[in-house]
Amino acid sequence: MRAAVFERFGEPTEVLGVRDVAEPRPGPGQVRVRMILSPVNPSDLLVVRGRYGVLPTLPATPGFEGVGVVDEAGPGILGRWVLGKRVTVINNTGGNWAEYAVIPARQARPVPSDIPDDQAAAYFVNPATVLAMARHVLKVRKGEWLLQSAAGSTLGRMMIRLGRHDGFKTLNVVRRREAVDELKALGADAVICAEDGPIEDQVRKIVGSEGVRSAIDPVGGETGTALFRSLAPEGRLIVFGSLSEQPLQIESRLMIAGDRRVQGFWLGHYMRQLSIPAALRLFGEITAMMRKKVLTSEIGRVYPLDEITEAARHADTVARHGKVLLRLSD
Ligand SMILES: NC(=O)c1ccc[n+]([C@@H]2O[C@H](COP(=O)([O-])OP(=O)(O)OC[C@H]3O[C@@H](n4cnc5c(N)ncnc54)[C@H](OP(=O)(O)O)[C@@H]3O)[C@@H](O)[C@H]2O)c1
Repeated sequence: MRAAVFERFGEPTEVLGVRDVAEPRPGPGQVRVRMILSPVNPSDLLVVRGRYGVLPTLPATPGFEGVGVVDEAGPGILGRWVLGKRVTVINNTGGNWAEYAVIPARQARPVPSDIPDDQAAAYFVNPATVLAMARHVLKVRKGEWLLQSAAGSTLGRMMIRLGRHDGFKTLNVVRRREAVDELKALGADAVICAEDGPIEDQVRKIVGSEGVRSAIDPVGGETGTALFRSLAPEGRLIVFGSLSEQPLQIESRLMIAGDRRVQGFWLGHYMRQLSIPAALRLFGEITAMMRKKVLTSEIGRVYPLDEITEAARHADTVARHGKVLLRLSD
């Protein structure tokens, strides 16, 4: 089969290539999926660069999520049940940028037929993270502010729509002024641009001198640090990405005097801690919110696997509009 492969860590446009590799076969409790589409997410590119929390043995194929059809099941009842079904391909170890992927049968979740392939391809990583952070970890209340950076990201836009749906207000930080009106049109309650002065001052002008109770940051560096400074006493900042690749600078005095907290969030770790009923409830929430067009992804462009280098370049572009997807089969 054809697969995107990298043999060393490095810039995705330099190290990714398409190769013929052996077709994988499913073992006990596993299924093989004929892949249809898979998104190019920031986490996939971090893996290729060798800068993700968990790294594969090389050579490796990236791709943590996607959609496909189960075409073979290893021994086990769950595999037989999903055989022939269109499923979300949740692949903790990567490997979805290929014509076929093998995953545990429990991670092949049948997708309702009214959810189109391009949305099903991005069914899990961002939607589950948005719901987990807002509803289950921070438990943002109706009428309360949630401060977020990189608000123009696919995930940030989902959070804005979830705020509208659930009744919390979003205060959104972007790095480009052009994004301000776009996010307001989407339903953002307030949008500030990092260029327009210290973020923490801009935040307090909007929410009042105390600051916010809840904030989420995938950027780090100066932006993440400013989000921490925007917290009210007993406020919490969730750090869930490292887009700037710069460390946070946390003032001890603010942590100590106001009991402000910083905590990490990683979906892989979060899911491992969920009970089976809780995970099923989370999938139910995603489906419901996708049907209401709250947790949908804007789709930018779909590339064939052979154009993997172009797809990786596009996914890394500043001011890119919409998710980049890889088409792996029809
Ligand atoms: N921890 C977890 O479990 C988890 C799960 C899901 C997602 N995430 C993280 O969530 C983030 C968003 O994911 P996504 O799929 O929504 O991303 P995406 O659609 O690719 O969007 C990336 C966004 O980040 C902005 N950005 C990139 N570099 C930046 C920088 N140095 N400073 C400020 N903004 C920057 C871009 O701004 P422009 O529009 O200006 O180009 C763009 O809006 C990523 O960091 C991803 O790794 C983490």
